[in-house]
Amino acid sequence: MQRNTDMDITVQAGGSLSGHIRVPGDKSISHRAIMLGALSEGQTTIRGLLEGDDVLATVNAFRSMGVEISRYEDGVYVVQGVGLNGLVDPRKYLDMGNSGTSMRLLCGILAAQKFDSVLTGDVSLSRRPMRRVTEPLQKMGAIIETENDGTPPLKISGGQILRPIEYCLPMASAQVKSAILLAGLYTDGGVVVHEPAPTRDHTERMLRGFGCQIEAHDGTIRLGHVSLGGQDIDVPSDISSAAFFIVAGLITPGSDFVIEHVGLNPTRTGILDILRMMGADIKIENHNEVGGEPVGDIRVKYSTLEGVDVPVDLVPLAIDEFPILCIAAATAQGMTRIRGAEELRHKESDRIAAMAEGLDTLGVQVETRKDGMDIIGGELNGGTVDSHHDHRIAMSFIVAGLAAKNTVLVRGCDNIATSFPNFLDIVRSQGLAVRRD
Ligand code: S3P
Repeated sequence: MQRNTDMDITVQAGGSLSGHIRVPGDKSISHRAIMLGALSEGQTTIRGLLEGDDVLATVNAFRSMGVEISRYEDGVYVVQGVGLNGLVDPRKYLDMGNSGTSMRLLCGILAAQKFDSVLTGDVSLSRRPMRRVTEPLQKMGAIIETENDGTPPLKISGGQILRPIEYCLPMASAQVKSAILLAGLYTDGGVVVHEPAPTRDHTERMLRGFGCQIEAHDGTIRLGHVSLGGQDIDVPSDISSAAFFIVAGLITPGSDFVIEHVGLNPTRTGILDILRMMGADIKIENHNEVGGEPVGDIRVKYSTLEGVDVPVDLVPLAIDEFPILCIAAATAQGMTRIRGAEELRHKESDRIAAMAEGLDTLGVQVETRKDGMDIIGGELNGGTVDSHHDHRIAMSFIVAGLAAKNTVLVRGCDNIATSFPNFLDIVRSQGLAVRRD
């Protein structure tokens, strides 16, 4: 799934957002729905699945391992579960493309299979750290090889008996937590994971929904009795995708619009808290719950934003939203300080470096630290910015272009399709001036 095209996008400032929009399904929930559906006994129907490249990498991996996954219409998939021990040898490398979630969570599942497997990824994924998952899994008895520097490909030896583990996560990472819990499905006696700060808990909620016994209190998650029965899953819209439009609305005068049916799991809503601290007019309407996940409509109005010190405890709850938060900070009055966010350096790109480089090009004063940055808000100039082939960096600078004084050209926007395939369609449907070069 290596992308060789180089889509560049030009954005003209101006316009505003109005009416109602809907963004695609939550990426994290979509991955987990396919994985748990595949490992359960019986049929799982998923509505609202994100059909982005990352989730399709997960779908293809399970298809290669003998799981029947049928697509009925946009976002509607039926998975015929094969049970915990029903996966078959794919007899080829499993290509995870750009998707860290696919690679890390699947590593937990594959560590417990009878067959050997190899997980590969694109250039960006091939640079990302994997010891964070291989180390705890090795403690459970898994045999996994990485490159010398701990990066993919992951070569997993089958036929190992996994042992229960009690593990303190060295960093706040839902992917690592989930890999251990998924491996824990195969242990006799469950696993206990302690996390240093709350991270997204979709795995825990969904395991419970599928019938597992799982307790979570004060940063300790205990997986007990394991039972997985097919489910019906309604995937809410992804707050991480909604965030691009939330900020687009906040920074374009006259905007007043609603994003419908967005997942509002409290482990994901840090971005709303931070933007409200900055003065954003964001209201939640139509609170509801689907499949154990809170949802609601998000109403956003253009607002004058002020810089803030981002509370460190909100960082893991907004971890994927920092690129677009940097754009909000760049248009706000005063300084925004981000600290405790070193994890941003290990995403699809080094997001601290990539955002600082792009903001600097647009004339924004930025100073980086190992674990964050200071951004002094003001006016944005035009210019040419490199996305580093990172979907969230690309979308963030496209949004920045809406509030810039001159044209912004964003290079390398191909990977937007990994998480938000119809992003540009929604931008255009709002009458905003983006053009593919
Ligand atoms: C994810 C967890 C986060 C996030 C990623 C999706 C998940 O990664 O950045 O986009 O679905 O579990 P980390 O666990 O590395 O923080």
